[in-house]
Amino acid sequence: MGFVGLNLAAFLASRKVRTVGIEINKDILTSLNAGKPQFYERGLESMVKSTLKSKNLIFSGNVEDILGSDIVFVCVGTPSLHDGSIDLSALKKVSEKIGKTMSVDSRWRLIVIKSTVTPGTTSNIVLPILESSSSKKCGKDFGLVMNPEFLREGSAVKDTKIPHLIVIGGANTKDNTFLRSFYSTIYGRALPKVMITSPTTAEMIKYANNAFLATKISFINSIANICQHLPGTDVEQIAQAIGYDPRIGPLFLKAGPGYGGSCFPKDVSALLSFCKNMGIDPKLVSATHQVNLNQPYEVVRLVERALNGILGKVISILGLAFKKNTDDIREAVSIKIISHLLKNGAIVKVHDPMAINRVKSVFGNSIEYFDKADQCIKNSECCLILTEWDEYKDLKPELFIKVMTSPIIIDARRVLDAEEFEKKTQYFAIGRGK
Ligand code: UDX
Repeated sequence: MGFVGLNLAAFLASRKVRTVGIEINKDILTSLNAGKPQFYERGLESMVKSTLKSKNLIFSGNVEDILGSDIVFVCVGTPSLHDGSIDLSALKKVSEKIGKTMSVDSRWRLIVIKSTVTPGTTSNIVLPILESSSSKKCGKDFGLVMNPEFLREGSAVKDTKIPHLIVIGGANTKDNTFLRSFYSTIYGRALPKVMITSPTTAEMIKYANNAFLATKISFINSIANICQHLPGTDVEQIAQAIGYDPRIGPLFLKAGPGYGGSCFPKDVSALLSFCKNMGIDPKLVSATHQVNLNQPYEVVRLVERALNGILGKVISILGLAFKKNTDDIREAVSIKIISHLLKNGAIVKVHDPMAINRVKSVFGNSIEYFDKADQCIKNSECCLILTEWDEYKDLKPELFIKVMTSPIIIDARRVLDAEEFEKKTQYFAIGRGK
């Protein structure tokens, strides 16, 4: 019942599919049974509560509870190991448990891999584990399909209700048809485009999708970094202009402090490591990754230059979550930037509407936490905006001038009105040449 699993379970239950959400962590299970997800996602808690109430959704701590079901969605995490390669241990473990459980009955069921896995994993790792632990044959006694997930945090409920595409990657026609007709019942007339592929193509689609989006971001960040050296240029206008070209499109061209979150950094690293093992060097993917590793330090350089060094300086940070409308701080640039600022002797004060508690568990007493943005920026010498929360858009230059020791603002997310702020404060922004 991680991000993908819980969203899917609640959605299916909301469509009157009797769904069992399996979670082995006892604390998370207890909280789910009380209707409380372990992370914030708009609209999810109410959907969990209502589907629990209708009894279409139940939670369980036992993998054996898959026995009553026709379809088993595997949504376990596939995090990064230290060298960036994919950690498949949870997937292997759960595959074995599912196999062992399936060995006790003769019901045909479909196993659907939703977790993001490197190409070949479904056929070369999951399938043999399922077969050997169940003593059953894939294609005859059970089905297996790779079905990647494209939902985004912050809009996961909507993305699950209205996906832009469904990819079904099974080796057997029967399995593909079974899942297709299941989705067709669930979505009815709203069924999106369905693509049937091989399992390995489905796995590669997910990596190509994320790597392409990450490349768009690293590309525009590279342009932003050039603009910073070109007085009078603005990456926002450049992104807008190229976005009008239908061959480019406007989305994912927002320059910033680099991409974070639970997917892009992990998936780009896993793809690179996977390629390295095969003796392939995908230079563009590698460059995307390198640009992103450097991007938080482009922001730090803006701060250092504006403050003429950061030792002993009081710096306020608005926004800690890896993007707005989530409390997730996984791979958030805020963590890297705060660590750098502390290491170099700055005094750091932070605000975020949702992610404060998670950040507390990383930095403890070494930084100061504020519930309100205006309290956070008070008496600071520089304010750094790291997440594009809507409430920051309403902040006026007069507030910064009134409460800060010196109104130096570094807008790494381009949320403020640059022209207005430049007139009244010392305003610097990613991709705005001075
Ligand atoms: C991503 C994919 O979009 C989704 O399809 C996949 O299933 C999981 O990974 P998510 O991580 O939730 O979703 O967030 P997303 O909105 O894609 O943003 C990822 C990161 O890129 C964030 O740090 C965001 O701030 C950054 N970003 C995004 C930019 O810096 N600029 C942009 O233009 C878009």
